[in-house]
Amino acid sequence: MNNKFVIETQNLTKKYSKFVAVDDLNLQILEGEVFGFLGPNGAGKTTTILMLMGFCEPTSGLVRVNGNDPAREPIKVKKVVGYMPEKIGFYDDLTARENLEYTGRLNGLDSKTLGDRIDKLLEEVGLKDKSGQVVGKFSHGMKQRLGIADVMIKQPGVAIFDEPTSGIDPEGTDQVLNLIQDMAKQKVTVLISSHQLHQVQRICTRVGIFSKGKMVAAGSVDKLGRDAFRKGKFNIILPVAQLTDNVRDDVMKIPGVVALETIANNTVVTADDDISKQLEDVVLRSTGLRVQMKVEEFQLEEVYMKYFKES
Ligand SMILES: Nc1ncnc2c1ncn2[C@@H]1O[C@H](COP(=O)(O)OP(=O)(O)OP(=O)(O)O)[C@@H](O)[C@H]1O
Ligand SMILES: [Mg+2]
Repeated sequence: MNNKFVIETQNLTKKYSKFVAVDDLNLQILEGEVFGFLGPNGAGKTTTILMLMGFCEPTSGLVRVNGNDPAREPIKVKKVVGYMPEKIGFYDDLTARENLEYTGRLNGLDSKTLGDRIDKLLEEVGLKDKSGQVVGKFSHGMKQRLGIADVMIKQPGVAIFDEPTSGIDPEGTDQVLNLIQDMAKQKVTVLISSHQLHQVQRICTRVGIFSKGKMVAAGSVDKLGRDAFRKGKFNIILPVAQLTDNVRDDVMKIPGVVALETIANNTVVTADDDISKQLEDVVLRSTGLRVQMKVEEFQLEEVYMKYFKES
């Protein structure tokens, strides 16, 4: 095991009698990463998360969170990890504030620190006006928002969210994603399981695609796209059928360009970044022409669908 990984598993396996829910999983997550778990229902995402939290014992293999074994050292792990489960449970007869106070006290926070944090967090998750309302009367989305605040109250080094935005309205989703991104900026390592691919693409530094208990692909969205389609994340389409060899050479020298091909009457340049500005300069320098170009960015959806069409 290597200490630089905040979350690490080796050959992690979970069986429910003969059924293999998590199959020989090797996962390595660095400090400050936002790692996304993707995959269809039943793929093993939640089971993996439960093993990381020490809520479910692995059948075999190793797990380390911050260097600790969650099954043997659950208190050490729970001290640094904030966890938002798929189904969040609050005390229905307590108010939003009282629920957060309860979590804060469990984590040893004094009243002053706790009071300040609760005010700030309730404001950030958009529940300031509802702080005195009992949670039993909250809508699903309001509970999700409170769940985010509940994770953040202890200022965790690692935050694990199992489908944090399911059931939240678009504006709320946006706020939640921003909050998660802010956590990552403060070096919090984030693991998030989600079915909402565009959201995952927006905030995750890397993703792992799960299928039938196995992680069938992992990497940045760019890398997955390259592996799946043998091309970069961006397609820049020039309405020019033929470029001279010199221009082609210059285009291929632009950092980030991975391929250039002629399709119909267009030249399609694929690249890891949006290099349209540099491309425009190269074409202008070599031909004196300023050409209109179209930029297409591939979406995580395409990569995801490709993995499941073929499996
Ligand atoms: N306690 C259990 N006993 C038996 N089988 C279980 C148990 N918990 C989970 N499973 C099975 O393990 C598999 C993985 O479930 P898991 O909840 O990890 O999936 P998931 O990827 O989180 O799916 P979802 O996207 O629906 O949340 C499923 O087939 C599920 O039926
Ligand atoms: Mg799940």
